[in-house]
Amino acid sequence: MDKEYENIKIHTEDGITFVSLNRPDKRNAMSPALHYDMEDALIRLADDSETKVLVLTGEGEAWCAGQDLKLYFRETYNNPAERKRSNTASHHWRWEMLSRYSKPTIAMVNGYCFGGAFTQLCACDFAIAADDAVFGLSEVNWGIIPGGLVSWNLTDTMLPRHALYYAVTGEPFTGKRAEEIGLINFSVPKDQLRERTLELARKLTKLNPGVVRYTREAVKAVRRMGPVEARDYLGSKQDSLQKADKEIADRVGMKEFLDQKSYRPGLGPYERPKQD
Ligand code: ACO
Repeated sequence: MDKEYENIKIHTEDGITFVSLNRPDKRNAMSPALHYDMEDALIRLADDSETKVLVLTGEGEAWCAGQDLKLYFRETYNNPAERKRSNTASHHWRWEMLSRYSKPTIAMVNGYCFGGAFTQLCACDFAIAADDAVFGLSEVNWGIIPGGLVSWNLTDTMLPRHALYYAVTGEPFTGKRAEEIGLINFSVPKDQLRERTLELARKLTKLNPGVVRYTREAVKAVRRMGPVEARDYLGSKQDSLQKADKEIADRVGMKEFLDQKSYRPGLGPYERPKQD
């Protein structure tokens, strides 16, 4: 994508777009201007044909140090219009857009991840962190509760006891611990973070994008349904996938396994055949 932003950096290679929060001197704390940049970028990247997978990361030592206590909170106390505008943009890109994004998303957590940053962390489909990344629900130190959507994000992602423990104590924890409590998929040594993220991203670019999208949507949606609604929803979802995607409609995977004997899902990588 050609557009340049003041508070974020965007770089695409082989269908994988890295979006980096770019306020390293402020540990990528989220100012109102950063929220506006992210909202605009995510809208554009959703329609960018070069972007197949989106990786969200941060420049410098931090992934994101949460909301900017000065620019997002203090400086908008006496400006309700700006406060409302930035609050709306903040929620829009971090949750409404990211949690239902049209492309798979990976949080690549390179360093500090605090407070409000947990919302975009939980909104991304996958999360990989450096072993020594530092996570913290520091709100308790500022006399605030994990607000916006953070408390909800926590109990939705981690086991409730861990959510309560870290929210109430504000105790920081590492990438390794974040893996143990189910907040991220896995942590890796920092010097392997980019390569391991690329490995997952490349895997995603090779799968059928329609099935990946519908699976992401389905797994997220059924979580809040009872079994009767879930079964009904999944049946309809499969029907619409069948209609939306020629490869699925032609049951290519099944032909390869049963007729051509060219593909076994349980064994090794699979390059999708080119479509006409
Ligand atoms: N808001 C505003 N500025 C911030 C924030 C933030 N959330 N986090 C860091 N900064 C600024 C610092 O004020 C400092 O600015 P300065 O150079 O103008 O003095 C600069 O970033 C660097 O910060 P340091 O503290 O010097 O960096 P260090 O690497 O030693 O520590 C750390 C990094 C651990 C992230 C520390 O800055 C910190 O604890 N920040 C607060 C994080 C936090 O509690 N976030 C939650 C906010 S509340 C919410 O999101 C709802």
